Amino acid sequence: MAPEEEAAAEEARIEHAVENQDIAVSVRGLRNSFGDQLVHEGLDLDVRKGEILGVVGGSGTGKSVLMRAIIGLQTPDEGEIHVFGESMIGRLDDEALAIRKRWGVLFQGGALFSTLTVAENVEVPIREYYPNIGAQLRDEIAAYKIRMTGLPTEAGPKYPAELSGGMKKRAGLARALALDPDLLFLDEPTAGLDPIGAAAFDEQTRKLQETLGLTVFLITHDLDTLYSICDRVAVLADKKVIAVGTINELLALDHPWIQEYFNGPRGRAATAAVTREKAREQDRAAQTPPDGRR
Ligand SMILES: Nc1ncnc2c1ncn2[C@@H]1O[C@H](COP(=O)(O)OP(=O)(O)OP(=O)(O)O)[C@@H](O)[C@H]1O
Ligand SMILES: [Mg+2]
Repeated sequence: MAPEEEAAAEEARIEHAVENQDIAVSVRGLRNSFGDQLVHEGLDLDVRKGEILGVVGGSGTGKSVLMRAIIGLQTPDEGEIHVFGESMIGRLDDEALAIRKRWGVLFQGGALFSTLTVAENVEVPIREYYPNIGAQLRDEIAAYKIRMTGLPTEAGPKYPAELSGGMKKRAGLARALALDPDLLFLDEPTAGLDPIGAAAFDEQTRKLQETLGLTVFLITHDLDTLYSICDRVAVLADKKVIAVGTINELLALDHPWIQEYFNGPRGRAATAAVTREKAREQDRAAQTPPDGRR
């Protein structure tokens, strides 16, 4: 290689490394299949540090499989997955384990252990990854995480069957937060909640993301969630991520599924609700004098 080519290659390498410091999860050329069924092919996706990335797509397009591949529960046929710059596929060494400790997961349906109380559920990852932490400290951490998600302290000794749907989701969130993660995976966290419960859960997610500086990979069908808390949205269709961007950027694309999804009756209703809320906020701001007194 000529010296100037070498210099250019080095520059490109540095540029790539610098760029990737802003990336929490990078997926390249992912292929997943079950027998004859091809779920993903040539799938690329970047999750930026500190963002809430909404992941949408029709039922069965492979959103949960994508999440499972990133967290190592599904071995892809092909492709590269990096989390915080570390290659993850097939890795069981200390570096990979250190990365695994940096994420928390709320599975679709909550997946709490039904024979364990809420507090014991939250303690599961602590026992698994930090076996030397004593019982008292473990209890304190669990109680703290439970409060963090907006559940009352009394929820700790309850069993999942004694909780409402919304409380179960929060208990699942408390377990996902058990190890102070940098990266949170949420699979359909508001599915099955009434609109008020869903909005409260969204608000909690946003608050936690802001105060803890989390990166959030959020699979959802909930248009209100997408509009109210997601920084960008990735659309899964045709076995890959066909587009990523803000909702306005996606609306400018003429893909039929995207148009149908965001511009269908439900999409329009969600846009109208957000527009109304923004107008109300502007009104409130206009009525507040600069020193903050009303
Ligand atoms: N363990 C598995 N064995 C065989 N097929 C699977 C397995 N897991 C997922 N699939 C198939 O892969 C496809 C994608 O599934 P996935 O659960 O990722 O869909 P999804 O996009 O999350 O859908 P939903 O919105 O309904 O949750 C489906 O056709 C599903 O049947
Ligand atoms: Mg799913």
